[in-house]
Amino acid sequence: MGKFVYLMLLLVLPASLTELFQQPFCFVNGDTDFIQKTCRTTRYYDLCLSSLESDSASLLADTRGLAVIMVRIGVVNATSTNSYLTSQLSPPKNTNTCRNAALKKRVLKGCADKYSYAGDALKYALENLKDELYDYANMNVMAAADYPGVCRNAFERYPTLVYPDQLALRENSFKQICQVVLGIIDALG
Ligand SMILES: *[C@@H]1O[C@H](CO)[C@@H](O)[C@H](O)[C@H]1NC(C)=O
Repeated sequence: MGKFVYLMLLLVLPASLTELFQQPFCFVNGDTDFIQKTCRTTRYYDLCLSSLESDSASLLADTRGLAVIMVRIGVVNATSTNSYLTSQLSPPKNTNTCRNAALKKRVLKGCADKYSYAGDALKYALENLKDELYDYANMNVMAAADYPGVCRNAFERYPTLVYPDQLALRENSFKQICQVVLGIIDALG
């Protein structure tokens, strides 16, 4: 019996060992190709690739799964900008007496709200993706992508206010994330 098992092991092991070593390799390789192929259909290939590759779940995801992962990255991004803006809302007490500071605070508060709405719109898009309602998902992502511009317009309405560079960077990055999502959703038909 012992000899028999040993013989079986000798016969079976080499095959299962090669399988063991090859399978994860093939998996990763194949699905990295899939991520690249998917990102090539979007407007921002590098951003798409680096974002999706930052989440190991991307390796096993289909097109819809990749869209979901990218939308979640967008939610995190919008939330981070909402927190950033909220943190700007409590300036030192003495500047509160300045009218321009009060105005800036009001505009910043409006911007924080816009990024919060943008995050909400992406959360609706997540639901839509789950339900395979791709037109609605598309609509909600487009709505999300519009909110940062509403914030920028609010700044531009007042000549005494300067649109902060940091916010411009965040606006661009968030809109690019949304564009990548739209590209992936397009591929879902
Ligand atoms: C998201 O937001 C941060 C700011 O917190 C920004 O630096 C980053 O580049 C953005 N983009 C992505 C793809 O995460």
